[in-house]
Amino acid sequence: MSRPPVYLKQNVVAEPLHNQWYAWWFLASPMTAPLFVANLHVKIMESFVANPAIHVAALKSPALRGGPYLNCGVERVGEVKALLERTLQEESLAMRYAAAMRELDALLASAEGYSLEELYPRVPDLLRGYVELTYDLRNRASARFFEPLLYRSPFHRESSQSVSLRLVHGDARPYVFSTPRLDDSREGDLQVRLPFRHEAWDTLFAMRRTPAPLEAVRDALGIAPQDGDTFATFFTPEPPRPAPRYDGDGVRVRYFGHACVLIESRHVSVLTDPVVSYDFPTDLPRFTFADLPERIDYVLLTHGHADHLMFEPLLQLRHRIGTVVVPAGGGGALVDPSLKLMLQHAGFRDVVTLSELESLPVPGGELVGLPFLGEHGDLDVRGKLAHLVRLEGKALLMAADSNALEPRLYEHVQPHVGSIDMMWLGMESEGGPLSWMYGPLLPAPLSRKMDQSRRLNGSNAARAIDIVQRLKPRQVRIYAMGREPWLGHVMVMGYHEQSPQLVESRKLLAHCREHGVDADMPYGQAESFLR
Ligand SMILES: [Fe+2]
Ligand SMILES: [Fe+2]
Repeated sequence: MSRPPVYLKQNVVAEPLHNQWYAWWFLASPMTAPLFVANLHVKIMESFVANPAIHVAALKSPALRGGPYLNCGVERVGEVKALLERTLQEESLAMRYAAAMRELDALLASAEGYSLEELYPRVPDLLRGYVELTYDLRNRASARFFEPLLYRSPFHRESSQSVSLRLVHGDARPYVFSTPRLDDSREGDLQVRLPFRHEAWDTLFAMRRTPAPLEAVRDALGIAPQDGDTFATFFTPEPPRPAPRYDGDGVRVRYFGHACVLIESRHVSVLTDPVVSYDFPTDLPRFTFADLPERIDYVLLTHGHADHLMFEPLLQLRHRIGTVVVPAGGGGALVDPSLKLMLQHAGFRDVVTLSELESLPVPGGELVGLPFLGEHGDLDVRGKLAHLVRLEGKALLMAADSNALEPRLYEHVQPHVGSIDMMWLGMESEGGPLSWMYGPLLPAPLSRKMDQSRRLNGSNAARAIDIVQRLKPRQVRIYAMGREPWLGHVMVMGYHEQSPQLVESRKLLAHCREHGVDADMPYGQAESFLR
């Protein structure tokens, strides 16, 4: 006798992992992943195994929470050692790739402006055929990767992928970039080793809204018999609350936290930079997975930073997303992995790229790509884009972490965008140093002074006011500040009242209000209508 169909509980967390580490964009591309494994993960684990007490002591200081300290008790050193040994064994190719990259860099540094032809045979054997050697116009040599070929090479290791499933009852989650997920099966954690692109994930996550037999999804995911009881705790006969599609006039705008905004008309639904809270009883009201419509026609991604391109919610929404729109970028530069390729290889079938001032028609409007200046430590990253969303005669600018380093840009942009009803802008005006995110890609460490000067910072008040004065939006919303507690696993902000980011934000709000512009910095949840 078959049992009645069940729903996936709304408080089941699903963390995509790569060798047990939280899978963020640099781990998704085979061009960059080996460097993060070799130059970050292995080094952190070696350091912890050699002296775990240093890590435990460092993490007692809140200022060091975002640093390269592994967040485990000393008693787990054996497990970390086992993971380190397994990583060194299974990822031996990554270790060789990292060594080959150092050799390649030395080779490129030896080029003096003469033909690069003779360098090809001297490219490290592992990388030959995967790179083109080029000069910039100042005769500085560099390598461009044929990234699509790397996805079809042994460097793309789907066997390292897994998803950790468990129930949560609150927002607190450990910071993931310096700590792997160890085996917490005694606490109800279940790690399922199946590539992200596998269709069984769609079967599972569709059950958040559509009930199905437990046995079928259990078998599709290949859950072992001994894990059957834990797996069964993730399901319930209770249906979720209804989440009807918006059917009113104009545009409804719902803030889901950070840079995630759901923009809906009667004809189309658009979700930006998905970062979505799970659903559980809480004192902080928020929209959650349970509030997303059955069909999300377009997901817009602004850039690859881990708080904007997050595989965790994307994987869970894949079955209900129509098209993912990403910045064109790519081009094979090590610092700029293609967002399109990484999403396609994670099982997204319809991924389209948009470039600056390019437009994509959508029902009742269009999406237009706009320049996204700065916020990447002056690195030549093209995989970033602000989005103009035109629906039902209204225009919303989703500017993410754009830093208005040159206000004249917005003078040039203004005639192309016309009047803007609502502008969303991030104001994380401090940002981390360049090495915090890009360090494992650097052939040699930057001086501390250089590193501290080249930050991943968005606009401060003066620059945000520059944008407002030039684009003259009717309404301004400050977002993408990492304030919501469901961001704690990827951002360590620790804001207080006098944090410069909040001081700058308040200055922008005051400026807007003085000039009759409706302005707000939503927290947790917000809803407005443009009619
Ligand atoms: Fe960013
Ligand atoms: Fe951000």
